[in-house]
This record gives sequence, structure tokens and C-alpha cells, in this order.
Amino acid sequence: MAGTYVLIAEIATSAILTLVVALVVGHYRNRHEVIDLLARRLPRNPRALRRYTDQRYAPVASEVGPGLALGRDVVSGQVIRQSWEDVTAVIAGARTGKTTSQVAPAILAAPGAVYTCSNKRDVVDLTAAARGKNADVWIFDPQGIADGHPTWWWNPLDMAGDLAGARTLAGLFAAASRPPGAQRDAYFDPEGEELLAILLLAARLTTQPLTAVYRWLATGRNEGTVEALIEQGHELAAEALADVMKQPEKQRAGVFGTARKNVSFLADPNLGTWITDGHDNRPRFDADAFAASTDTLYSLSKEGPGSAGPLTAALTAAVVLAAERLAASSPRGRLAIPMVCPLDEVANVCRWRELPDLYSHYGSRGIILLSFLQSWSQGVDVWGEQGMRKLWGAANIRLYGGGSNEEGFLRDISAVCGEMDTRQLTTSYNGGRMGQSRSYATRREPIFDVATLAALPRGRALLMASGIDPVLIRTESVLDGRFGPSVRESLATRIPSLNQSPTPVQEGT
Ligand SMILES: Nc1ncnc2c1ncn2[C@@H]1O[C@H](COP(=O)(O)OP(=O)(O)OP(=O)(O)O)[C@@H](O)[C@H]1O
Ligand SMILES: [Mg+2]
Repeated sequence: MAGTYVLIAEIATSAILTLVVALVVGHYRNRHEVIDLLARRLPRNPRALRRYTDQRYAPVASEVGPGLALGRDVVSGQVIRQSWEDVTAVIAGARTGKTTSQVAPAILAAPGAVYTCSNKRDVVDLTAAARGKNADVWIFDPQGIADGHPTWWWNPLDMAGDLAGARTLAGLFAAASRPPGAQRDAYFDPEGEELLAILLLAARLTTQPLTAVYRWLATGRNEGTVEALIEQGHELAAEALADVMKQPEKQRAGVFGTARKNVSFLADPNLGTWITDGHDNRPRFDADAFAASTDTLYSLSKEGPGSAGPLTAALTAAVVLAAERLAASSPRGRLAIPMVCPLDEVANVCRWRELPDLYSHYGSRGIILLSFLQSWSQGVDVWGEQGMRKLWGAANIRLYGGGSNEEGFLRDISAVCGEMDTRQLTTSYNGGRMGQSRSYATRREPIFDVATLAALPRGRALLMASGIDPVLIRTESVLDGRFGPSVRESLATRIPSLNQSPTPVQEGT
């Protein structure tokens, strides 16, 4: 008898499980099916679309092979690729597949150097071992996100060889140190940034480490710097520094305090090791050599107190500006082998004020920037509304991958997708058995309304690219695509020490 009850209970459990699975599968299939049907209503210009589906029509024919794949057109099934002169901006919410369907495939498909940044280690796990097979892998990990050790070092002051470079570096530190959405003080912020720039230049000219700048700012003393600046021909910078030193105490303390806040991350000794020569034979990272290589650099930092964000932002700028220099001295002003730069979690990891301005011309130089943001407002926090519009507008590939609930942004995308005619049935009753009448009315409605876009299922993204109507694409996890085997191999491999060959993970470790 007891056995019969157990059997009945088992049958009931398995029936319930089957029902749940069927409901879940049905739910997801339905969401994909509905969205795919709507995609067929989008306007299409097949001739224009060829630029993204057929290498022969891509604007840059390159010896390095077809451009990066973004996904498959849901309607035709064709692979959509960005060319080697397209730059990309992606907005997709948390857990929508940014890293596995876009960042990792781009890294693995890159023909030359790759620079990528993130606040998580997943991208390293997915791709580092595969990329490390034929070239060096550099992992900049001052916060230990991927358990990286400083087996190499980089001097951010490499960028500060002249006042313009020092100002760029000071601006990067200032922008990355400011909390999202914080207001700039009209006097102290620019003054503090200029003071920092002058001290960065002085440190570079006197071959001192970056940490010396923190010490100068913390103590308010910088003996010898004015003289050093004059000696090296920077009289105006020396004068400006001397003027700050002569300011009334309260004002001077305010300017110094602002400048110090922008480099407060330097107080952390763990960070210092990554950017200081320990005279211990560790290799020194050279951004110019990297730009000409086929190496991969992962730059990791996470937001919050003690963030290495200012350093990852500066490293991004150092690498991209080195690539720009190399492009400028290359035939036709572009890199012979494009450099691929997927900037994952860019608003958290790389708060670089000038990024929107760079977008417009980096594509033509073969520097393939792909910026990934979780939401429109995340970008506004870093670059302001105008800057974010500039970045979004200058990217000739714009991708929305779902997961947004920002109505204004979704309404803009909905408008770009256009409208369709829908037939509405109206039934009215006016009493009696024959008193029912039906009529149809045609109404114009958005093809993708705000609610549909907000609920875009994982595995789908809306592509808005230059010269074509919006296209719904099917994205693919890197594990399911052609890189699947090498990704699985990467996942089973640990890079023990940076810039060294990967080794297989030992059982039980
Ligand atoms: N194209 C896809 N189709 C279906 N599932 C996917 C696809 N791409 C990724 N996934 C799955 O979605 C989950 C989230 O992926 P991923 O980590 O890449 O998202 P993310 O947007 O980078 O997340 P986060 O915001 O946390 O960084 C993972 O479990 C991944 O396997
Ligand atoms: Mg991610």
C-alpha cells in the first residue's frame, strides 16, 4: 500500500515538473516568437543591409578577414558584421549577455592587439588562455578581481611627457575620482586639476614615481619642483605652481585638497606596486609596443571606495592614444591590423571625459571601440546628457540588448523603429437579437512599443546602424559559437602569473 502511494506521489511530482518545464519553455519561446514576428514588420532595405552582411560591400576591405560578428539577422538568418571602420555603443541591462555574446566573441575574433576593461573576471576566464596561446596576455588587476599579481608594472607618467599629456592624465584622474552625478565646483575643480597636471609633469621630468605627487599634495611641500620645471623649459607651468603656493592659506588648502582627492587612490600600497618600478626585473608595460603587437590587455577595477578606476581609465587612454600615434604614422593613417577595444562596463571602469569626442574619428584609424553601458543614464552620469548623445550619435553601430526601463530612451528607439498598421475590431450592441454590429478600424502603432523593448528577451538585440533601418538580431553566447571549444579550454585553464604561458587547472584547486 505504502509503495502505491510512493508511486502515485512520484508520478504526480514528475507530471508537475513536466508542466512547469513546459510552461517555462513555452513562455520563453513565445516571447522570442512574438518579437521575431514583429521584426518582420520593420522597414528593410536589402541593398543597404549588404554593407553589414557581405564583406564585398563593407567600406574597408581588409586583409585581416571579415569584421566582428554582432549576431544574426532574425529575418534572413544572415550574420551581421561591423566593418573594420565601425565603432560601437551598446546599451543593455544587467545579465543580458553583454560579456558572453559581445565582448568575449569580439576579443577572440580580433586579428591584432586587444584592450579590454571590466569590473568582473568573467571576461578573463572566458578568453585569456585562448588569447595567450600566440601572444602575451597582460592583466592589470590592482584590486585582485582576477587574483592577478603585479608581475609587471606600468608608469602612468609615461603619458605626462608634456603639459598637454599631463593635463589629459589629470583630467582622467579627476573624472574617474568624482562620484557619479557629482557637481563640479567652478573654481576649485579646474584649479585643482591644473595643479595636479603641473605636479604630474614635474614628477615625470624629475623621474619620480606617481606616488611622489600624492606625497607633495598631502604635505603641501614640493621643494625643487618649480626649479625643475624652469630647468626643463616649462616656465609658465612653474609660474602657475609658484602662484598657487603664494595663495592665502585657506584658498591654497582648497586647491591642494581638490587635487589630492583626485589621486587619493594612490594611498593604497597595493595599487602603488602596479605603477612603480620595484627594481625587481618585472617587465614594464609599453603602450606603444603594445599597440603594434597582437597582445591582449585586460584592465580590471571595481567601483566604490578604494577603486582603481582612475588607473584603468588612464591605462585605457594610454593604450588608445598609443594606437592613435601608430595609426598616424601608418599608411592611409590607419592601423594595418585593427586594434579591438571592447570597453565592458565603461561607465564604471573607464570614466574618460573625452571618449565621446574620440568616437567620431577612431573608426577611420582602425581603432575599433566598443563601449558597453547598462543604461542610458549611466552614460549621462559620466558624460552628461550632451556627451552621452554625442557618443551614441557618433557610434555608427548602436545596439540595444534589452534590460532597460528608461522610458525616454526606449521611446527614442521605438520612434526609430517606425510604425505599422493594425486592424482593430469594434463590436457594438444596440439591443435586440440583431442589434450587434462589427466594424474594423486601422490604427498606426509603434512596431516596437516601449513595453516590448523593455521586455526584449535575452538572445535578441536591436541593431541601429548607419545607413540601414533597424534590424533585430539573434545573439549567441560565445560558448555556443565557433569559439566554444577554445572558451571551454580557457575556462579549464588558469593564468597563474601574468605575461606567462597559461597552465591547466589542477584537480581540486
Ligand atoms: N545570446 C544569449 N542567449 C542566451 N543566453 C545568453 C546569451 N548570452 C549570454 N547568455 C547567458 O546570460 C547570462 C548573463 O550573461 P553575461 O554575463 O554575458 O551578461 P552581462 O550582460 O555581461 O551581465 P552583467 O551585467 O552581470 O555583466 C549568462 O548565464 C549567459 O550564459
Ligand atoms: Mg558582463
